[in-house]
Amino acid sequence: MAKQKSVFFCSECGAESAKWMGQCPACHAWNTMVEQELAVSERGKSVRRSDRAVKPQLLSEISLSEEDRVQTGIAELDRVLGGGVVPGSMILVGGDPGIGKSTLLLQACRELAARGQKLLYISGEESLKQIRMRADRLGNFPEGVSLLCETDLSLIAELLRSNKPDIVVIDSIQTMYNEEASGTPGSVSQVRESTAVLLQLSKSLGISVFIVGHVTKEGTVAGPRILEHMVDTVLYFEGDRHASYRILRGVKNRFGSTNEIGVFEMGSEGLREVSNPSEYLLSGRPEGESGTVTACSIEGTRPILLEVQALVCKSGFGIPRRQASGADLNRINLLMAVLEKRLGLQLGQCDAYVNIAGGMRIVEPAVDLAIAMALVSSFLNLPVGDRLLAFGEVGLSGEVRGVNAAEQRVSEAAKLGYEICVLPRVCAQRAGQIKGIKLIAVDSVRDAIEVIKKHGGKEK
Ligand code: TYD
Ligand code: MG
Repeated sequence: MAKQKSVFFCSECGAESAKWMGQCPACHAWNTMVEQELAVSERGKSVRRSDRAVKPQLLSEISLSEEDRVQTGIAELDRVLGGGVVPGSMILVGGDPGIGKSTLLLQACRELAARGQKLLYISGEESLKQIRMRADRLGNFPEGVSLLCETDLSLIAELLRSNKPDIVVIDSIQTMYNEEASGTPGSVSQVRESTAVLLQLSKSLGISVFIVGHVTKEGTVAGPRILEHMVDTVLYFEGDRHASYRILRGVKNRFGSTNEIGVFEMGSEGLREVSNPSEYLLSGRPEGESGTVTACSIEGTRPILLEVQALVCKSGFGIPRRQASGADLNRINLLMAVLEKRLGLQLGQCDAYVNIAGGMRIVEPAVDLAIAMALVSSFLNLPVGDRLLAFGEVGLSGEVRGVNAAEQRVSEAAKLGYEICVLPRVCAQRAGQIKGIKLIAVDSVRDAIEVIKKHGGKEK
């Protein structure tokens, strides 16, 4: 008889441990270890030799063709996928519940079916009627999209083998149930085993599979992180649930570049693509106010302009409050220390709030200069001017260092009508002359602050 043994898995990252722990040793999350029974077969007793001979193939002899990719017809999704869906690939779409994963995939189904693909949408969460109602909101659907409400993976596997669709959507992996694995649907072992079955089907039948995975904070169901290593592409759909914009971010991609983003807006008729995110992110920017500076960040291959807002005010408490949304708080503390030490600004007793407007999350150091300028602008109550843009990395001595893709950033700014660009000296040399925009090369934050004093307007 098989011996029963139990192990503990972290429901966040999937780390395995022989005993229970309050904190996951791998991802340091608390209270995420869950017990799973493992059925251990009497493995290793007899080593079976396969009769099959294996033969390596020369790398140069493997043929490839770009046309193999299937365009989804949603340009923002294609961009994040690296140019379309590769047949036989597995794509994980993760995100908070209610962010719009089902909507995005149903829209992708519509476009793919219009391109002659055979689609199968399998939902374990919604009834056929609910999906139909959602589809009606999204518009007309062509022939070729089949729906199935099922959670039993063995039945699904059978159907896939007989039906052979081109593309399958599994919504969501946490509702799927595999008889051969232990645990309830959504548990680490179920989610892993179900994905393994789907992976095997996808590779052997050449079906592309989209898997929806809910990200959960409570750890009651296993998050999509534990299957990131099994799939070819990992996309995360994020954004503020209460605002309408949504950002699709590539985290892993075996067939294209990662860090590419797609921007969408949720409306009453589903998701709408936002092909010019800079314009979108800058809309509603206050004019003539202090504490706001436009920065430029490169997301994947695209330059994106965004607004950095800062509010610096006297602290009412002993320990000043520092808060960041969309930017790294440690970086803000570092920049404030640089401003205090190198420029002699008395920021030590001030509260500071920094926000990247539009819900973007930026980790690129190229936004440093804009954050520093926004902090100083707010501290001095001196607007920097609406037509000014800044980018560059700030070092600990207050020096402004070069960043990549300077020309692309400046061109994007010029396209959107910016007149002045404050940038590191090396970047100014690289960018050369670009029509309609004046480049101001700076060596240190001190120079950048001089620019605010010279070009900044008066507060309203
Ligand atoms: P959904 O795709 O169900 O989210 P997920 O699958 O990630 O859990 O999207 C849910 C939200 O989107 C829901 O709150 C309603 C909203 N929504 C719209 O605003 N407009 C629409 O046309 C649709 C279909 C959904
Ligand atoms: Mg859903």
